[in-house]
Amino acid sequence: MHAEAAALRAQGPAVLVELPGPVYAWSVTRHDVIQALTSDPRVSRDPRRHWPGLADVPEGWALAPIVLPQHFLNAYGEEHHRLRRRIAPSFSPRRVEGMRPLVQAAADRLVDALAALPPGTSADVREHLALPLSLTVVCDLFGIPDHLRDGLGSVIDAVLDPSAGPERALAIQAELHERLTGLLRYKRENPAADLTSDLLLSPQPGQEPLPEPALLDTLFLVVGAGYETSVSLITNAIGALLAQPEILTQVREGAIGWRDVIEETLRFEGPVMYLPMRFAIEDIDLGEGVVIGEGDPIVIGFAAAGRDPELHPGCPERFDPTRASKEHLAFGHGPHFCLGAHLARLEAEVALDTLFKRLPDLALTHPGERPARVPSFVANGIERLEIIPRPA
Ligand code: HEM
Repeated sequence: MHAEAAALRAQGPAVLVELPGPVYAWSVTRHDVIQALTSDPRVSRDPRRHWPGLADVPEGWALAPIVLPQHFLNAYGEEHHRLRRRIAPSFSPRRVEGMRPLVQAAADRLVDALAALPPGTSADVREHLALPLSLTVVCDLFGIPDHLRDGLGSVIDAVLDPSAGPERALAIQAELHERLTGLLRYKRENPAADLTSDLLLSPQPGQEPLPEPALLDTLFLVVGAGYETSVSLITNAIGALLAQPEILTQVREGAIGWRDVIEETLRFEGPVMYLPMRFAIEDIDLGEGVVIGEGDPIVIGFAAAGRDPELHPGCPERFDPTRASKEHLAFGHGPHFCLGAHLARLEAEVALDTLFKRLPDLALTHPGERPARVPSFVANGIERLEIIPRPA
């Protein structure tokens, strides 16, 4: 993935690529161009208003579940701002910090289970730590009561599973839809300080509350945007640390803090490569003879920005939490900047601190082997990371 991004970056400020469909889009992989386009009002994420090509997308288009839902990620201008403001309170530093005890309790429980495995036993740390921890956070954020949590993890996993066939995908979406509808019903009667209750509130006296389909789309957006991304951040960080024991030693000795490890992981292996799509509202001249035409689709290579040698001349391909600048655009930039950035950092810090403190001899099961990656051009994550919590 990074090799491909490097090749595209060398070709120009934007390069036409073929996406499933086929749909042709300008891929942008240079840090400065990403920064400029993501904050440029001539660029929109709203296909209905700004993409003439929408009329030609094939039935069952593979990118439809990302590009077409009408939540605020795919809204533009004032409409985007208005919808985003509705849920922003749930992501305030105070609310997020308030979630720490629950995240810690979940991490303790999951790491205890890893520590209880017989010495020499291997386990996939993505499946046994990152995924269930991230799920607990989503449930907590949504204010899902215990009696509605049962089996929710497998439903969310199934919704996000890219290998599900169309029939299975529809069935599982219907199940998640039903569960979220049940959640809305429960929260109407039992409001609390959580995202679902924030959404149900009328924004201002006299203003209409959101209609139910928009409420559900917004809940879907947060599950989609916040679940697998955090899983990848945690797994990518564990993978990077275990692959470089000399850095791990410095972390264990306290010479390198978790904040530096997390920012370097975001720079080195940003969990989102592309998150389709954007559209040019008018012609945009990027120089070097490249003009993005009005209505053209654009895909931003968020994870490519942190590896741009123009930004990081000192070996961007090396994982090094001690480097002075770890600048990245892993959480995006401009009006769509990730709402969950603070929460994702908290989850990663709690997961890493708990895991490495509790398991001082933790090791990779297959040291030197490159773990399989999630097969996707959206997610940039390790698919399976086998570890031995306690060597024999
Ligand atoms: C390491 C973890 C995460 C990464 C790398 C990440 C990355 C991103 C990126 C790149 C965007 C911008 C998309 C664009 O401009 O096209 C974004 C937006 C968003 N993220 Fe995250 N995200 C993470 C975690 C989370 C979490 C935990 C949540 C919530 C639980 C979340 C919720 C959102 C939402 C709601 C948006 C849309 C914001 C808007 O359109 O105004 N993200 N994220």
